[in-house]
Amino acid sequence: MTDAENFPLTTREGWRQFVDDGPAEPKLLGDAELELLDAAGRLAYDQDRLDYHSRLIVVATPVVRQVYATGRRLVLLNRHQVSARRGLIVTGAAGTGKTTAVTQLGRNHELLRNRLGRQAAAGRVPVVYVTVPPSATPRMLAAEFARFAGLPASPRQNQAEITNAVCDVMSRLRADLVLIDEIHNLNLATRTGADASDQLKYLAERIPATFIYAGVDVEGSGLLAGTRGRQIAGRFGVITCQAFAYGTAAQRQEWQALIATLEQSLRLHRHAPGQLLKLAGYLHERTDGMIGSLSHLIRGAAVDAILDGTEKITRETLDRVGLDQAAEATRTRRKTTRNRHDPPRLSRCGSCRSPHARSAARRSAPSSHGSPRPTASASGTCSSSPPSAGNSSAGSPPRQTTGWAGHHLPRTGSPRSPAGRSPP
Ligand SMILES: Nc1ncnc2c1ncn2[C@@H]1O[C@H](COP(=O)(O)OP(=O)(O)OP(=O)(O)O)[C@@H](O)[C@H]1O
Ligand SMILES: [Mg+2]
Repeated sequence: MTDAENFPLTTREGWRQFVDDGPAEPKLLGDAELELLDAAGRLAYDQDRLDYHSRLIVVATPVVRQVYATGRRLVLLNRHQVSARRGLIVTGAAGTGKTTAVTQLGRNHELLRNRLGRQAAAGRVPVVYVTVPPSATPRMLAAEFARFAGLPASPRQNQAEITNAVCDVMSRLRADLVLIDEIHNLNLATRTGADASDQLKYLAERIPATFIYAGVDVEGSGLLAGTRGRQIAGRFGVITCQAFAYGTAAQRQEWQALIATLEQSLRLHRHAPGQLLKLAGYLHERTDGMIGSLSHLIRGAAVDAILDGTEKITRETLDRVGLDQAAEATRTRRKTTRNRHDPPRLSRCGSCRSPHARSAARRSAPSSHGSPRPTASASGTCSSSPPSAGNSSAGSPPRQTTGWAGHHLPRTGSPRSPAGRSPP
């Protein structure tokens, strides 16, 4: 565990911490080694594992790979463009992994830059990560960039002065990838929101970098509507993050691969490999295929298993971990629907030997296969729509492999098939 100060990700220091965060995977000690630990040693050992499980790993899901491949390609294509650079919008429902996908792109881009030795001056900042504040004004947007760059913002500075200072410093720092999260906070229905959107376009013109936007259901947010929106739509590709589906054999395999990867990353003493994979259907039913809920559930159960000394994740441990309101509400709704549609199943009564309906509680218990829920997405995790005006940024399978080697992706695992094979 580190006692170092934690800076927000939206500052240069916080971003640097995130990029430099090394692999903190604790070694699982054998029984003999454990016995040699005194009380303080055991406490420290468990604290390390608690810290590790509270974050666990980032899985290289299809959407993480696609955002990385698309983003890398755009950076290369935009390098010599003096204007009308193309960008990417990562959209989807809350908790589907948008922030994770774009920050992994940024992190790997920066690591790659460092490896290539092109970060000539030590002061170079290849990646900028900012979030759009609620009800953002143009000045607030410029101030977010200034905060990341560590520019002292004076309340006396007007919008034009901050904007000019930001554009100058970004060019000097030679940022070539700008990640703007929470883009849905731009409310284009208001005058302020429309002005802030114009400000963003102005910044994108002046800063010679590739701009990537991430936000909840961006298509419906108005960002792509109207004259301004059409201009953005003409230059930006869209990748949509979705929940993992569980309808077809291929979709189930993808979900199982995700669980297998997360299970392999556990560092618990009595957790037999494959136990979590057996609960794939149950896990899908609990989380509705949302990676954010799945991650919370597994990390929560792992932390509990260390704290209560059981050192393994079981169905009972998972049952005890509460989830977010959205996941619990979906689960309740699905159970209710199933109860309504299920004809009462008759079983022979042990005492009178006559057929009786089973209790509702019994009927509503999830099956070991979970609930098939076919969706439109073939991949189960992401879909990309070709951007208008011939943008070639989305839609093709990722070809870029540089940057995905394990040692460059601390806390990142590639999903493996249940049989242990790596995906192609
Ligand atoms: N590829 C991944 N591997 C492991 N965990 C992931 C991955 N993607 C997302 N998660 C987990 O899901 C949680 C939610 O992800 P993230 O914050 O990226 O979603 P989001 O779509 O940006 O959500 P929001 O709409 O609320 O901003 C994260 O805290 C992380 O724990
Ligand atoms: Mg997010």
